[in-house]
Amino acid sequence: MPARLFLSSGDLVADRRYEFARDLQLKGDLAAAADLLTQAIELAPGFASAWFTLGEIRRQLGERDAAIAAFRSARDADADDRHGASVWLMRLGAEGLSDMPPAYVRTLFDQYAPKFEAALVDDLGYRGPSLLFKAVLAARGAVRKPAFFKRAIDLGCGTGLAAAAFAREVDHFTGIDLSPRMIERARATGLYAELEVADMLQGLRGKPDACAELILAADAMVYVANLVPLLKEARRVLVSGGLLAFTVETHRGDSVILGEGLRYAHGEAYVRSALQSAGLALSQLEALSARNEDNTPVPGLVVVAARP
Ligand SMILES: C[S@@+](CC[C@H](N)C(=O)[O-])C[C@H]1O[C@@H](n2cnc3c(N)ncnc32)[C@H](O)[C@@H]1O
Repeated sequence: MPARLFLSSGDLVADRRYEFARDLQLKGDLAAAADLLTQAIELAPGFASAWFTLGEIRRQLGERDAAIAAFRSARDADADDRHGASVWLMRLGAEGLSDMPPAYVRTLFDQYAPKFEAALVDDLGYRGPSLLFKAVLAARGAVRKPAFFKRAIDLGCGTGLAAAAFAREVDHFTGIDLSPRMIERARATGLYAELEVADMLQGLRGKPDACAELILAADAMVYVANLVPLLKEARRVLVSGGLLAFTVETHRGDSVILGEGLRYAHGEAYVRSALQSAGLALSQLEALSARNEDNTPVPGLVVVAARP
């Protein structure tokens, strides 16, 4: 897990109460932790980290309404919502699904960056890039075209694992990611000709029409609720016959849900209809898992679509 975000209240006593409360929370004494957090908040009413932790504890205690109120206060106290209180509000059903706050995703992955590859590849058996690679080779084989791409864009490129998988097949890679620390790691690989710290939809919007032959998104769509705007933009940016390849987590239903791990899971019917509304033609869709959780494969889809 990444290090936990702490935003000081500016009041030493309140900060100290928060630290004690965290110790108690980790030891499982939730009621005592909630008491201390309430005291900290009395001293510093705009203490976002204390509100957020109180929200977590109320949720752990099964006190849904109090959890919702605390998460709302956490978001009010930090308008950028770096803790991701709104993600919990969605998870608790207090608010409808919408995209995650960019500052939350950036903070999460900036903190994750130093141990990202060890955590994902070694601990969770991450295999998204190699699954995408096989799927892209199969899609190209099916239309008897070589799997060689002059220009490719890697959405949510992270530390560069997808570019590493495709390095020999791509001449010029552009990586786009919200997290500056992940981008630093991607830069250190030397695999990218260009790297941008940006939201992936905004990054694609800045690209000219028909400028890429391949767009990848390995384990990145799990942070996007509504895929349609991104898929439409990908279609515009791809050359005719160009490919978009991505992984999603999925579930048995048709819609989009926010899973327990605070990642979106897109139903297969949703993915098919989103591709259709974006004007992309499905080349491959396979039920394959990109990572494990508790040593069990997380249900997933590996998708390749072409711009007609
Ligand atoms: C689980 S990592 C996967 C990284 C890489 N694609 C890989 O396969 O190792 C997800 C990445 O997506 C990035 N990300 C999530 N939402 C994003 C968004 N809306 N725009 C740009 N990057 C985003 C995160 O910062 C993170 O680096």
